[in-house]
Amino acid sequence: MPNSNLNNAPTAITTSAFSPQSSPLFKMNNPASIVKQPQARRRYSPQHFYQNRILDPYVHQAVSPITLRQLVFFGRNMQEDKLLKSANYVRTELPIRLAHRIRDFQNLPFIVGTNPHIELVYDLYWQAFEKIVKIPEIKTLEENDAFCEMIKGLLNDHLVVIPQLALGIMECSKHIPAAQVDQFMSKMLRSRISRRVLAEQHITLTSNFNSPNHMMTDRGYIGIIYTHIKPRDIVERTGLLAADTCRQASGGMAPPKVLLDGNIDAEFTYIPDHIEYILYELLKNSMRFVMQNGKRDPTTGELPPIQVTVCEGTHEIVFRVSDKGGGIHPEMESQLWSYAQSPAREAAMLLDRHAPSRAQSAQKSSFSTTASSPQQYKNQSLHLGIGLPMSRVYAEYWGGDLKVFTMHGYGTDAYAKFCKFGNIYENFDD
Ligand code: COI
Repeated sequence: MPNSNLNNAPTAITTSAFSPQSSPLFKMNNPASIVKQPQARRRYSPQHFYQNRILDPYVHQAVSPITLRQLVFFGRNMQEDKLLKSANYVRTELPIRLAHRIRDFQNLPFIVGTNPHIELVYDLYWQAFEKIVKIPEIKTLEENDAFCEMIKGLLNDHLVVIPQLALGIMECSKHIPAAQVDQFMSKMLRSRISRRVLAEQHITLTSNFNSPNHMMTDRGYIGIIYTHIKPRDIVERTGLLAADTCRQASGGMAPPKVLLDGNIDAEFTYIPDHIEYILYELLKNSMRFVMQNGKRDPTTGELPPIQVTVCEGTHEIVFRVSDKGGGIHPEMESQLWSYAQSPAREAAMLLDRHAPSRAQSAQKSSFSTTASSPQQYKNQSLHLGIGLPMSRVYAEYWGGDLKVFTMHGYGTDAYAKFCKFGNIYENFDD
C-alpha cells in the first residue's frame, strides 16, 4: 500500500557536518570554472555562411530521445561492445541536439544575437558542435577514453551557459516579448539537460567500466542514475544545503526547521542531481520567506517550520513543501515562472550569478553584503531568480511536474511530482 506511511510522525532534520561545496548542486552552474572566453563569432561573416552549410544536415535530423528506464537497462552489466555503442550514440546525438539550438540562436532577433552573453553561449555551442562532428566512429576503448576526456572538457567549458544565458536574456528582454523569452529559455534549458545527461551518463559508465573492480562499483548506481533514491535522504541533504545558504545570506540568522512526513522511505529510480536541484530551490525559497516574514512562536521564539510531505502514488512520488512564510505577493506571483526581466528578477539575477559560490564566499554575494544582520535581511524585498522556472524544467524533463500555490499573507505550498517508473521519454520538443 503506497500510502500507508502518510501519517508518519514528522521527522525533523538536524544539521550535521555538511559541505555544500561537495554537493552536485554547486557543480551544476559553477561559473568559477569559466576560464576561457571563446572568440566572438559573427553570425553574418562569410566564414559563418560556410559553417551553416555544415550545420544544416544536423538541423534537419530528428533527435533520438530516451527514457531513464532504457538508460538503466542498457547500463547494467556493461561490456566493451555496449560501451562503444554508447560512445557512438553520444557522438552522433550531441551534434544534432546542439545544431537545433544553434539554429534557435540564429533565429533570435538581431539585437538579441549581438548581446555579448548570448554570443558567448552561441560560440560555445558552435565550438562544441565542430569538435564533436570531427570525431570518426569510436572503435576501441582507447578511442573512447580520449572521447570522454574531450567531452569532460566541454562539460566544464559549458558550466557558464546558464548564468550567461540568464544575464543575456535579462539584458535583452526589453527587445523581445516575455512569452518568446520564456519559450527560448525553456527550450535551451531542456536541451542542455538532455546533452548533459547523455554526456555524463556515458562518462560515468566509462569510468566505472575502467575501474579495476568495475563489477563492484555499482552500489545502486547505473552511471549517474541512482536506483534507490529515498525522499528522506534527498530532503535531508537539500535541507541542510538550503539552511546553510540562507544562514550565510542572512549573516548568521538561524533558518527554520524542516519537518518531514509521509512516505519518506519510498524508493525510486532517478537522477539525484535533478531532484536535488528542485528540492534545494524549493526549500531555500521557503526558508527565505519564513526568515523574512514568518511569525515567531511567542513562547519558544521559533520560526514556523517548513513541512515536507511525501506521497507515493501508483505512478508517481509527490513532494509537498509547505511554509508559513507570508506567501507570494500577487505582483511577484505573476512573474514566478518567467525568465524575462523585471526589477525583482534583475536583483535576483545578481544573486543567482553568485549562487554557486555563495557558500564559499558569502561576501561576494549581493544578497549577503546587503544583509549583514538579521534585521537587514528581514527588510529586504523578496527576490526570486530563475531557479524556480528552471526547477520546473527539471521536474518536467522526465514527465514530472512542479506547481506552486500561494496564499498571500499566510504561506506557500509547492508540489513537485516525479514519475517513479522512469518510462517517460525525455521531454523536449526537438
Ligand atoms: C552543455 O552543457 O550545454 C553541453 O552542451 C555539454 C555538451 C557539449 C557535452
